[in-house]
Amino acid sequence: MVRYEVTVFTADMATATTFNNVFLKLVGTDGESERTLLVDDKGCASFFKGAVSSFSVCCPNSIGKLVLIEVDKQHLPPFLEDSWFASKVEVKSPEGDNYKFPIYRWIIDSKVHRFREATALRVFEENHHLGRNSRQQELKQREEDYRWDAYVGGVPHTMKASHPHSLPDEVRFSFTKKAEFSYTASEGMRELKLKGLDDCKENWTDIYAINRVFCCRKTDLSEYVQQHWKDDAFFGYQFLNGVNPILIQRCTALPNNFPVDHIRINNHLRGPHGLQDEMKKGNIFLCDYKRLDGVKPNTINGKKQYLMAPLVLLYSTPEDSLVPIAIQLKQTPADDNPIFYPSDSEYDWLTAKIFVRSADFNYHQLNTHLLRTHLLAEVFAVSLLRNVPMVHPLYKLLIPHTRYTLQINLLARLLLISENGFFTNFASSGGEGMITILKKSLSSVTYSSLCIPDDIAERGMEAVPNFYYRDDGLRLWDIIHRFVQGILSYYYKKDDEVQQDSELQTWIRDIFEHGFLSQAGTGIPQRFSTVDELVRFVTMVIFTCSGQHSAVNCGQFDYGGWMPNAPTTMQCPPPTTKGTTSEATMLQTLPNVDATVQGMAIMWLLSKRSSDFVHLGHFPEEHFREEIPRRLIKDFQGELEVLSAAIKTRNENLVVPYTYMDPKEVENSVAI
Ligand code: FE2
Repeated sequence: MVRYEVTVFTADMATATTFNNVFLKLVGTDGESERTLLVDDKGCASFFKGAVSSFSVCCPNSIGKLVLIEVDKQHLPPFLEDSWFASKVEVKSPEGDNYKFPIYRWIIDSKVHRFREATALRVFEENHHLGRNSRQQELKQREEDYRWDAYVGGVPHTMKASHPHSLPDEVRFSFTKKAEFSYTASEGMRELKLKGLDDCKENWTDIYAINRVFCCRKTDLSEYVQQHWKDDAFFGYQFLNGVNPILIQRCTALPNNFPVDHIRINNHLRGPHGLQDEMKKGNIFLCDYKRLDGVKPNTINGKKQYLMAPLVLLYSTPEDSLVPIAIQLKQTPADDNPIFYPSDSEYDWLTAKIFVRSADFNYHQLNTHLLRTHLLAEVFAVSLLRNVPMVHPLYKLLIPHTRYTLQINLLARLLLISENGFFTNFASSGGEGMITILKKSLSSVTYSSLCIPDDIAERGMEAVPNFYYRDDGLRLWDIIHRFVQGILSYYYKKDDEVQQDSELQTWIRDIFEHGFLSQAGTGIPQRFSTVDELVRFVTMVIFTCSGQHSAVNCGQFDYGGWMPNAPTTMQCPPPTTKGTTSEATMLQTLPNVDATVQGMAIMWLLSKRSSDFVHLGHFPEEHFREEIPRRLIKDFQGELEVLSAAIKTRNENLVVPYTYMDPKEVENSVAI
């Protein structure tokens, strides 16, 4: 008789405990153990949350190298069948070899579940029939559990699910996350109800009354925004370091549809140089919301809303401030589409800026945030779960970057962009317009625009001062790239190994087909030919799910908590001639009380960090067991620490600190 020492780890998280009987079978290259009831002297506490429990499994002879384990649990009356979150199983063989079996998932039924030994194996290395069989079974089950759904034509496909309960348990929110998310959502609405604001269709009559909506919910930055939202320099700053830093580009030639008055512009430029000279010097920038042109605006409470497609010209001053110097609110030049300048009346200029901020809110939420981070992250995740088994190195590398994404996106589809969702009820792009924007945005996504080094170069944004999104993002990209390169080049020494890995190839093919709707013009790879191609794509995936999402998500309340800085809609058309605006017209144009307070509650919810937040590079689940990948993880964490410290030091000298790309503030995945 030989003895295998088995250690079972139950996760240290709420509701992870099982009172059921747990059975284990060891499967090796030379045989298998009996299905064995795991019993130790702790009794029913063996599988309590956080428990680490040891057992023995005996066999008549050695069963060779362990390939997998089979685990099942059975309830014993009076206990009901419950859910158990097992972390991992470790086994020491009679020969003295140590094996690790990552689990990290809920076991909720009484079926037999198979888990592979942790050493990563690519499909063409799988030379034991039990391994091959288990690999096929796992993917077959996953294909059933994770089905593609064409939610709306022309936008990335999603996971087919109608309710959070219809998601597989392994991808659902934890108890803690769910409870906190629900609490934050309901608390916000309860406060608004108590104040009688949640259903008030009136317009604001005093802009500072907005301040009283959420008197207890503020951030340092949201207060700063309230004080500086009218400042030109702050308006310009937000294109660099606000929640939508991906639109601004260097302007080397004025668009034909933006016929600015050079004499008026030159008055706003410092020094003897005119606009042409400043453009040549790289000091002129453009934000063009052309994708919003022709979008049908929403109707709210029976009232037509207004969504502009502005053009904004900006100037980087000798003092390194970025200020707007001209705004045209519609794309087609016309007499009733005036170009506004800083020298116009206070309310003409402010009204023009508010229309831009409202366009930016809608553009940011649908394109920059929803499409380019949330929906793409879901595509990356669903393709991974359908095509790549747990034992594959890509699964081990990417699974931490999929956490909670499927549920948060489902909730967004149910609560934000549904027929009765926030966008439909309160945003000028809600309804038909939202779909138009998403379709237009997807058709213009390029692979290079998702890779920050290329994106910055293509936008000509290498030299503009105080662009912290760029500075931190490029450093973060480099760190992620080094890590991904280290891991993947450990497993893929030659390009032909990439080419013959059918699971990698189906992963990228599904992404191309379901995420980018087979549009070759995006430049998204349809297959991987080289290790370098694979490394670049996986770097982009991790960067998009972590740093990029943080950059466009975490400042939503900071910048949108003071509604006039990010109005969800505009209730009146823009001025067609100058000199017709006033404080009163501004208040009639801004969202009413109802839309304002709902928007603030949503911004608060979506900016709130959960207590089970996992920051970038922290991997509580141990999927890798080989020494080199584990060392690379430590190196990655060390580099992220250094970047975090550098960002904190830099921020000490900034009036408005830029924290969204600080690795300590960045979550591993799109989880909110
Ligand atoms: Fe988000």
